[in-house]
Amino acid sequence: MAIRKIFTDDAECLTKVCREVTKFDKKLSDLIDDMAETMYDAEGVGLAAPQIGILRRVVVIDCGDGLVEMVNPVIISTEGEQGDMEGCLSFPGKSGYVVRPEKVVVRAYDRHGVLYEYKAEGLFARAVMHETDHLDGKVYLRLVTEPPEGFKVNGEDDE
Ligand code: NI
Repeated sequence: MAIRKIFTDDAECLTKVCREVTKFDKKLSDLIDDMAETMYDAEGVGLAAPQIGILRRVVVIDCGDGLVEMVNPVIISTEGEQGDMEGCLSFPGKSGYVVRPEKVVVRAYDRHGVLYEYKAEGLFARAVMHETDHLDGKVYLRLVTEPPEGFKVNGEDDE
């Protein structure tokens, strides 16, 4: 395993639509391990492959309940709304208020090619939306709005 460089700001790899994974091989397994190690080292709750310059549809997420790896994730449905502060390891020092769905159903493969369905809520749902956006070259900054009056920042999450 190795800690990879996280690309930031106007790096081109953050604007690209990533390709689907077609081979569930050791290379993929190594990539996922490196992504997890890189995410934990940077104290983030999520990381997408394009953030380390790999234009493949792979994300890792850990919102405190253990590591979830998602290969070729597809959002099946979304429900509700939640607004909170959001950050990104590719935009250090920045954060902003973003409204996301409260609940998300997502299907994704693991490193072995086994398909799972996740019912994500709250921070996990936010992380799923944030990270899958990265796979389409979209970053959260485009979604930042003014927080509602009285909104208090209570800890920020780098995703
Ligand atoms: Ni991000």
